[in-house]
Amino acid sequence: MSAEIVDGKKIAEKIRKNVAFEIQKLKLKYNIEPNITTIKIGNNPESNIYLKLRDTACEKVGIKPKNIELPESVSEEEIINLISRLNEDKKVHGILIQFPIPKHLSSDKLINTLNPKKDVEGLTPLNMGKTIVGDEYIVPCTPLAILKILEEEKIRLQGKDVVIINHSNIVGKPLTALFLNRNATVSVTHVFTKDLKKYTIGADILISASGIPKLINKEHIKPDAFVIDVGIIKTSDGVTGDVDFESVKNIAGKITPVPGGVGPVTVACSLVNMAKTFRNCMEK
Ligand SMILES: NC(=O)c1ccc[n+]([C@@H]2O[C@H](COP(=O)([O-])OP(=O)(O)OC[C@H]3O[C@@H](n4cnc5c(N)ncnc54)[C@H](OP(=O)(O)O)[C@@H]3O)[C@@H](O)[C@H]2O)c1
Repeated sequence: MSAEIVDGKKIAEKIRKNVAFEIQKLKLKYNIEPNITTIKIGNNPESNIYLKLRDTACEKVGIKPKNIELPESVSEEEIINLISRLNEDKKVHGILIQFPIPKHLSSDKLINTLNPKKDVEGLTPLNMGKTIVGDEYIVPCTPLAILKILEEEKIRLQGKDVVIINHSNIVGKPLTALFLNRNATVSVTHVFTKDLKKYTIGADILISASGIPKLINKEHIKPDAFVIDVGIIKTSDGVTGDVDFESVKNIAGKITPVPGGVGPVTVACSLVNMAKTFRNCMEK
């Protein structure tokens, strides 16, 4: 039997409706427009596409996005000064740094400068720490999107065997914490994992975010598993994910497609976090 294909766009729309309601409530209560500011450094074409999508999503929920564009050559000191000013500015209710950033800049230094109250992506040490200890507050957008998809699909996580392919700070590490907080058993794999299949074949839920096209095929999948494909890779045939969709769909129970799966839900979860930082700034 063929796997059920999870409709990320539909889930994203539901999330957006809730965020629009929340933003409207806050605007009426405080009589103020939210100001969410993105710092974009250089001219990365993939960032430009993502930003355009996110800006459109912002408009749909009543947030006027503001982007500050800096040249590739900008110094670390200049950006740190800018972030510090935005941190102090009472008219700014959320800050995002658009990654990737040029190599001469330290992402740790920039993230550490952000005021955790305005940290839309949940990447500051304080917000990360809260996620790890189970006091989830502002959770990074992609892990939050994966959780929302599983919630929408009514998957009970307690006792499930989960395998994550990715150990980055943005995806794998916070996601591991979210699953552990819900009593799943988690294996985290990466490029040094000796035998990837040994892990994936036992997964009730498999999350792949390697950025390698067709890394995962039917040989890696336990029958009836829930397969969540986070990869977004541009190829000459268009955008694809990590998973060989055609082979895996005949064995998995549910699968998220690329495009139209995790991507739109991640954008919607960014709006969820914007509403949170807006509320943070207004409620003190
Ligand atoms: N859908 C979304 O919203 C969304 C959001 C974020 C990212 N993405 C996509 O997800 C992918 C990963 O993004 P990222 O920023 O997390 O990239 P990243 O930092 O490069 O992470 C890739 C991860 O996959 C691991 N990996 C690479 N090749 C592997 C292999 N052959 N076997 C096992 N593990 C392997 C890497 O391990 P090592 O660190 O040991 O090399 C690393 O942990 C990209 O395609 C990106 O476009 C999608």
